[in-house]
Amino acid sequence: GAAELGPYRHYMQKEIFEQARALGDTLEGITNIMPELFGDKAYRVFKEIDNVLILACGTSYYAGMTAKYWIESIAKIPVNVEIASEYRYRDSVPNPKSLVVTISQSGETADTLAALKHARELGMLHSLTICNVSTSAMVRECELAYITRAGVEVGVASTKAFTTQLAALFLLALTLAQSKDRLCEAQEQDHIKALRHLPVAITAVLALEPQIIAWADEFARKENALFLGRGLHYPIALEGALKLKEISYIHAEAYPAGELKHGPLALVTKEMPVVTVAPNDTLIEKLKSNMQEVRARGGELYVFADADSRITPSEGVHVIRLPEHYGMLSPILHTVPLQLLAYHTALARGTDVDKPRNLAKSVTVE
Ligand code: G6P
Repeated sequence: GAAELGPYRHYMQKEIFEQARALGDTLEGITNIMPELFGDKAYRVFKEIDNVLILACGTSYYAGMTAKYWIESIAKIPVNVEIASEYRYRDSVPNPKSLVVTISQSGETADTLAALKHARELGMLHSLTICNVSTSAMVRECELAYITRAGVEVGVASTKAFTTQLAALFLLALTLAQSKDRLCEAQEQDHIKALRHLPVAITAVLALEPQIIAWADEFARKENALFLGRGLHYPIALEGALKLKEISYIHAEAYPAGELKHGPLALVTKEMPVVTVAPNDTLIEKLKSNMQEVRARGGELYVFADADSRITPSEGVHVIRLPEHYGMLSPILHTVPLQLLAYHTALARGTDVDKPRNLAKSVTVE
């Protein structure tokens, strides 16, 4: 009811603004990397496995895609990420040395539970879940677990569950790296420091809301939008597009920016807003040339940059700058303005933000 919502108009908005608290709680007390954070047997299991298979649906699947970048880069362990409903119905080649990782807000998604069971039947016995509900079927079924502490999420479109999943997955990447002797003490402490800074960093990003509202008023009049990202931020572009389509009913697609020339450029006209996730990472120069390809076709760019991305606003190029440069944790911070953009666009269009048509919070049937 209204009392629970406090100053917010919808649960989604409240849950977006709860993310500093949710991340703080999820990472509470973590000053060192220890396998035991994931369960009693984790030390032995992490020594035994030599690859990771991630299974998830929806927004949780995008968290898995992000985790692949982190785990392969930090722990140097190969990772496959599969949509649970596809994995369970295809022939795959099982590897008994896989760690099967399910990611689920509810812990009750039927396809993800079935995919886990399928993996077990194929002889993959080591499993871990990143889950927001400690009493869920998923937690019961998995050998290891990390419980995110997002708290109850009411809005159908996942927000705080996603960013806390990402924080937990980053911790998993660090822990796997440690288990394989690929993380020195100094690196460990740098990463922990960055994780512990997340609540403060996210609060500063949330303060960008007024600038995002101004963009949302433009977006509310559009019927299509394209989202671009590269590398670690491609899954974030996917998540931004998903949020926008789910709650505003604007058709939105995401592409890794290097793929523009293989199709989506044909759609770019001055009617097409192109949202670009543009942190100052190793791909920024490549991304800038992708942006020029869009401008050359009259596409309007809406760029989320970092403090030091060196992208200046000009005709057809709108820029909102996140206050810092977040390194490997950048996907967590760059998610937030995309959530706010979807929320305010939906608000301007007058849709039922917390209960979008045809969608359910948790899909417990196939
Ligand atoms: C539904 C929800 C999404 C969620 C997905 C997976 O589609 O609307 O927000 O990402 O299910 O749910 P899970 O609980 O397994 O993360």
